[in-house]
Amino acid sequence: MAHLFNRNILLGVSGGIAAYKSAELVRQLQELGATVRVIMTRGAQEFITPLTLQALSGHPVHTDLLDAEAEQGMGHIELARWADLLLVAPATADLLARLAAGRADDLLTTVALATRAPKLLAPAMNQQMWRDAATAANVAALTGRGMALVGPASGEQACGDVGPGRLEEPAVIARAAADLFEDGLLQGRRVVITAGPTREALDPVRYISNHSSGKMGYALAQAAVDAGARTTIVSGPVHLTAPDRARVIAVESARQMLEECLQLMPECDIFIACAAVADYRPAAVQEQKIKKGPDEITLQLVRNPDIVATVAAGAQRPFTVGFAAETRDVLTYARDKLQRKALDMIVANDVSDQSIGFNSELNEAVVLWRDGEQALGRTGKSNLARQIIQLIAGRVAAQGN
Ligand code: C5P
Repeated sequence: MAHLFNRNILLGVSGGIAAYKSAELVRQLQELGATVRVIMTRGAQEFITPLTLQALSGHPVHTDLLDAEAEQGMGHIELARWADLLLVAPATADLLARLAAGRADDLLTTVALATRAPKLLAPAMNQQMWRDAATAANVAALTGRGMALVGPASGEQACGDVGPGRLEEPAVIARAAADLFEDGLLQGRRVVITAGPTREALDPVRYISNHSSGKMGYALAQAAVDAGARTTIVSGPVHLTAPDRARVIAVESARQMLEECLQLMPECDIFIACAAVADYRPAAVQEQKIKKGPDEITLQLVRNPDIVATVAAGAQRPFTVGFAAETRDVLTYARDKLQRKALDMIVANDVSDQSIGFNSELNEAVVLWRDGEQALGRTGKSNLARQIIQLIAGRVAAQGN
């Protein structure tokens, strides 16, 4: 199925009667999962108001190249960089001519030159204008430069003529936009990743925690986003910036992490437990700061719930992946964990080697599943994350999930 999850579509609307259909097009693109921002030419604003498209897209509509205020928000270069696709619909005869000439005399044509994103044009004009040799030459020049075309459709036109030149239906344009993207390995899958340490409070100012940086979990989130997944990170306290298109739910304790994960499970296809969850928490959290007193005090700890095992035991469990950080007998312990926690896959690594693992940029791992395993050699965490996501996608596909 066609998707536009995680895709930024910059919709350029030029001034023809079909401009009113861009409202429906914004909706169709969003329905396929895209984030849409709109640029309107001056002519387009004669047919439909920026306010309409602002309300539908949820973002201010961009109209002027030389508006200092607008450029402060998201200027033409930011827009050009933001776009994964520049879609022009409707593309009038004049706009095609200006694009073909490489002009930069308004915001839309300037962004078209400034962006590296692919371009999709949906022409709309009177049938005779479409048939004119000048338009045909412009279209040939533009497609020759790699721009894609959808439509125009044939039929009765607003001016009463019959022939080619009608704007293609919004649903058809949206699907053509989706078809331009190669499907990612996890396109449209819903992935939840736990990351970082948990903090288990002792009193209002103290806690028990560990040295997990969260880097591996966040690298997995980036790789999942890049593979087209709708990605949520349930994150303990870390000093990391999340990938642009991932949602982050911040938690502190293991029990909060479990609660948030369980809430997400009805809408989750793949669960990756990368967090270094504290196995124990203080039996009681003191309401007041614990005062200095005797030379020795005893801290009583109780077991925390096992998040990944709880998820794996659920009735409608997602494809569930755990991690096993071990200091010896790595593969034996990992296989045992795979079975005991009823996981679909486990990523095992040896953390006795201080140069990899917890706070390092590097890592290496062996990925195990019920009837197979794959060693992944020492490499940067983001590269390792990409390989793990590839293996997960392969197993998910093999299981027909
Ligand atoms: O048993 P162990 O803690 O070594 O298992 C590690 C795996 O289990 C990791 O995937 C970790 O995120 C997960 N885990 C969990 N909840 C816990 C403890 C571990 O989800 N309370």
